[in-house]
Amino acid sequence: MSFVKYLLPALAATQLAFADSKCGDTKIENQSDAEGLASCSTVKGDISVSSDFSGSLSLSGVEKIDGDLTINNATQLTSFSADSVSEITGTFKLASLTTLSNLAFPKLDSVGSLDLKVLPALESLSFDTGVTTAGDVYIYDTKLGSLDGISLETVGAFDIENNRYLKTVNVNNLKNATGDITFASNYDALEIELPNLGDGKNLTCRNISSISVPSLKKLSGSLGFYGTDFKSFIAPNLTSTGDLVFMNNKKLSNISMSRLEKVNGGFQIARNDKLQEIDLPKLERVTGAIDFSGKFNTVEFGSLKEVSGGFNLQSTDGDFNCDTFKKMKNDIIHGKYSCEAKTDNPTTSNGKSGSSSSSSSSSGSSSTSSGAAVVNSGSVSAAGIATVFYAIAQLF
Ligand SMILES: *[C@@H]1O[C@H](CO)[C@@H](O)[C@H](O)[C@H]1NC(C)=O
Ligand SMILES: *[C@@H]1O[C@H](CO)[C@@H](O)[C@H](O)[C@H]1NC(C)=O
Ligand SMILES: *[C@@H]1O[C@H](CO)[C@@H](O)[C@H](O)[C@H]1NC(C)=O
Ligand SMILES: *[C@@H]1O[C@H](CO)[C@@H](O)[C@H](O)[C@H]1NC(C)=O
Ligand SMILES: *[C@@H]1O[C@H](CO)[C@@H](O)[C@H](O)[C@H]1NC(C)=O
Ligand SMILES: *[C@@H]1O[C@H](CO)[C@@H](O)[C@H](O)[C@H]1NC(C)=O
Ligand SMILES: *[C@@H]1O[C@H](CO)[C@@H](O)[C@H](O)[C@H]1NC(C)=O
Repeated sequence: MSFVKYLLPALAATQLAFADSKCGDTKIENQSDAEGLASCSTVKGDISVSSDFSGSLSLSGVEKIDGDLTINNATQLTSFSADSVSEITGTFKLASLTTLSNLAFPKLDSVGSLDLKVLPALESLSFDTGVTTAGDVYIYDTKLGSLDGISLETVGAFDIENNRYLKTVNVNNLKNATGDITFASNYDALEIELPNLGDGKNLTCRNISSISVPSLKKLSGSLGFYGTDFKSFIAPNLTSTGDLVFMNNKKLSNISMSRLEKVNGGFQIARNDKLQEIDLPKLERVTGAIDFSGKFNTVEFGSLKEVSGGFNLQSTDGDFNCDTFKKMKNDIIHGKYSCEAKTDNPTTSNGKSGSSSSSSSSSGSSSTSSGAAVVNSGSVSAAGIATVFYAIAQLF
């Protein structure tokens, strides 16, 4: 009967799947469970490790995990090595492994995404080959001193936060990021080198001491620096970006973006007390508002043709002169215009203090929410833009 005809192959297939299932989804409770995978060059399924696992875990023989590799909350796991794994197609996620001090994946080259969070004993990644391909990379709350072992060429999101020992980041081969790049609250003097990064979405840096982006050309999202310690920001090849923010960078005295032509959003400079001169020789268009406040004595826009939003310049400096900007009202500046020199309390367009030492009133409350809000297209009313800038300032 046709019924049987169908049943038999189905049964055979089930048996096959059963025979094969030791190379499928696996929960590792102990080292012998891990050894059970030794003959599986490919595991088709997810591997997880019990939170009760204690001591060293070694995964041998497995070359590819076609799924996720997850360990959560195994606080007694001290070492995890996988001598042959070169590819994990899903997420490689390690979270809350408070005594893990050795992570050795000498052949790992490609991961769907890498998610390392709360690994306070992990000082380095023994990724000898180096991960060259990753969808997204998140590294939070580790003891890593560098990101050696991460050798990406392209990445989606790249989010590195709260790694208090992280002194240097050099992602030498990274050329293109399709997600947000964020550095925040790592070691105070974190030095970042992205020598080949050409394109990206958002690039947001908080609490860093230097950044080198000699090749950066275009950001489709925002570029923001908050509470950094660097003296100069030099982006010689940058031609366009979304919102552009320099906020609270106490040592910043030189912003050099000699090819910047377009800001697709708002452009805010505030509370950078050492910044004397702002020279933007090629800047033609800002689709949001320009909002600069501080102690500068010179602002030069050599090529400005259009500011779709408002314009607010306020400086404590007596030598600062508003005459050239007044002439830009209406023709070039479409939104609300305001320019003040020699003001004791320079403020941003939302009334927040624009310098860190002159303010008596609102000294900018702080909050750690990440990312700059968008000040978008020219059709936004001046009030709308003010509201959005208020949102930006609210973040601090
Ligand atoms: C390892 O854990 C499995 C359950 O996953 C159990 O059946 C086995 O007895 C354990 N082996 C040892 C040596 O503890
Ligand atoms: C982590 O493990 C501890 C102790 O084993 C447990 O109390 C806690 O609920 C676990 N946390 C999560 C998020 O699983
Ligand atoms: C960056 O990657 C995206 C998506 O893969 C691609 O569309 C874009 O062309 C790349 N840019 C460069 C400069 O390679
Ligand atoms: C900067 O741009 C120029 C012209 O587009 C290019 O020739 C040069 O290689 C770029 N510099 C870097 C460091 O990428
Ligand atoms: C990071 O910078 C912010 C300003 O953006 C500041 O409020 C915060 O205290 C800094 N955090 C550290 C850890 O330095
Ligand atoms: C700012 O840095 C650029 C690039 O290094 C340099 O050419 C320029 O002279 C510096 N400007 C000031 C005011 O130091
Ligand atoms: C990235 O930029 C977009 C657009 O500028 C913004 O909406 C988003 O909040 C930003 N994300 C982060 C993490 O800053």
